Amino acid sequence: MSTARVNALMNQMTTAEKIGQLLQMTGDAFQSGESKITGPMQDKHLSTETVYAVGSVLGTSGAKQVKEIQKDYLAHNRLHIPLMFMADVIHGYQTIYPIPLGLGATFNPEMVRQTSEVAARISAAGGIQVTFAPMVDLVRDPRWGRVMESTGEDPYLNSVMTQASVEGFQGELPLDKEHIAACVKHFAAYGAPEAGREYNTVDLSEWRFREQYLPAYAAAIEAQAMLVMTSFNTLFGVPASANQHLMRDILRDELNFHGVLISDWNAVGELIRHGVAANSEAATALALKAGVDIDMMSFAYASYLKKAADLDDQTLALINEAAVRVLELKEKLGLFDDPFRGMDEEKELHDIHSDETMAVVQQAAEESLVLLKNDQQVLPLHHTQSIALIGPVIASNDLLGAWSWNGHRHETETLEHAFKADFNDVKVATGCDYRHADAAAEAEALAIAEQQDVIVAVLGLPSSESGEASSLANIKLPQAQLELLAKLAKLNKPIISVIITGRAMDLTRVNELSTAIVVAWFPGTKGAIAIKNVLDGTVSPNGKLPMTFPRSVGQVPIYYNQYRTGRPVPDPYVDSGNGYESKYMDCSTLPLYPFGFGLSYADITIEKVEVIHNVVTETQPLTVNVTIKNNSDFAAKNVLQGYTHQLIGETVRPMKELKYFAKITFPAHSEQTITVTIAKEQLSSVHTNLKRATDAGHYEVMIGFDSEKLIKCDFEVQ
Ligand code: GLC
Repeated sequence: MSTARVNALMNQMTTAEKIGQLLQMTGDAFQSGESKITGPMQDKHLSTETVYAVGSVLGTSGAKQVKEIQKDYLAHNRLHIPLMFMADVIHGYQTIYPIPLGLGATFNPEMVRQTSEVAARISAAGGIQVTFAPMVDLVRDPRWGRVMESTGEDPYLNSVMTQASVEGFQGELPLDKEHIAACVKHFAAYGAPEAGREYNTVDLSEWRFREQYLPAYAAAIEAQAMLVMTSFNTLFGVPASANQHLMRDILRDELNFHGVLISDWNAVGELIRHGVAANSEAATALALKAGVDIDMMSFAYASYLKKAADLDDQTLALINEAAVRVLELKEKLGLFDDPFRGMDEEKELHDIHSDETMAVVQQAAEESLVLLKNDQQVLPLHHTQSIALIGPVIASNDLLGAWSWNGHRHETETLEHAFKADFNDVKVATGCDYRHADAAAEAEALAIAEQQDVIVAVLGLPSSESGEASSLANIKLPQAQLELLAKLAKLNKPIISVIITGRAMDLTRVNELSTAIVVAWFPGTKGAIAIKNVLDGTVSPNGKLPMTFPRSVGQVPIYYNQYRTGRPVPDPYVDSGNGYESKYMDCSTLPLYPFGFGLSYADITIEKVEVIHNVVTETQPLTVNVTIKNNSDFAAKNVLQGYTHQLIGETVRPMKELKYFAKITFPAHSEQTITVTIAKEQLSSVHTNLKRATDAGHYEVMIGFDSEKLIKCDFEVQ
């Protein structure tokens, strides 16, 4: 039911003006506008009249600029309907926090909520009313560049993080001036492109889609995300932006989503290339029927402007339905009451640099770092040790990552600065470029390494090889870096490899050459100090892998929650000599580092696991008491994880599924008992009728600090 104000507007609007509300373009169409371009540009062929009837703008931010555009627009728009401004605030606005894959590694939803809240506050002051986030595509193929935008491979982890992010961006509804609308994306299953190749075909059974990919989108709708963005890919044989089953049956009817559905960049126009539409008008008809309200940057919808007077009733009804949803969103954003709501140059500038902002993004960076290896307890370092800080990242300082909205690399503290602030003797050298060896740089690096006690090698990939259109067939570190590392290893000194990456990687060779390994993702504006703080023990590392790290790209897709198959590899693996097992002849089936894995400096052990209620009903959850000791001098956080396995199901069941996690603080030399509860509804699975239900029967619960070293107990579901 649309409001009186929206109804009154609709009654005054021409069909052309209604179509205008369904168009979105970059801000450079306005004389004072400039925009971040995040897709293929094309000539818009839009008349001035149409430009001033367009409903929303993407890629433009900054209170001053947005105010100018809004003022100019309102002076030209016949009914003074304000513009809406949207942008990709994926992991921060000017002040950048870790990429979402790093946020996933925090296993701390409260951290995610806080970072989204900070980003919303700054963005709102900067004139942004909608963010194209969170991206909640489940990812299992690190060849795909956009794994950096996801919180990982698990439906439950992604669902919990999605809820936290939507609530952080939007706050309590109705939206206030310090919050922005969340646009969850990309609906749906964009994270499963064949061969990890960007924009490639996605072909999932609806059963698997519902089992593993749909839950996080559902969690976003449950958290009242105000928009959804369609994905580029096909699903069930039809491109998402033309897919009525996906958009009408599943999104709108089943998930009860009544907000604005916006296409991804040019996705409506690309229905022609997909081969399901002959031209822009046909593409528009398909997208409107699927319920796509806003056409981002394809201007296919604009093709209806020429024939606005001759549109049939069904098309007019679809246009009206879409225009009402766009106008309702503008009303919910408060734009009719104040087209300049929240825009404040001083507040924008202040909040970007405020202590509160910096504290949140620094803690998020520290909690995102994952310690994978720490032989000889070489970490934490001592400030009296002399350090050789080496690697291409030393020169590039590329710590912000892809989709850093107006983040400024040159304003980001460098690793050299962070280390020299606390270590007495730090020498730095790049050693090589990301992908190219350099004899002189290598000689310089080896020379300083020779002189110092410890080598900190900061290696990885540039942010330009992460994010959209950045698929890689080879997920090892570049050869130039591996060769540098091998030469450093010949010096027989401790080597701490810090990996700056937007994806899970094949670190097999790094693992052979390094004494310790820390995955730092792209840690953001406070990344350098966060890395220093973890390496010198100011903070004990407490991140966990949100995505499996394979031994080889040949294992991909590899993920922890896989099915047993009819010929499972023995677990733990023993080579039975029986060739007829689900394994490789030339590689282990096990990952190099599993989902949920991450070391701590503290010695934290599980002393006892006691099932208190082992018969689960609608009203009685599984209840397990876990007694945990911190046997060390280090106070530390760690992530307690609970996995379940349903032994017999109508459909096959994963060997383990994450159903509980909590990041817990363990004071030095302490003991505490944590109560783990898992409700019956969390144990549901998708049946052959494609409906979710929880089967009665025998289950196992597994408790631990990663997805492999687990203590198992039995329970029943009635
Ligand atoms: C891009 C991305 C999408 C983004 C949009 C606007 O192509 O696929 O995630 O929000 O365009 O920048």
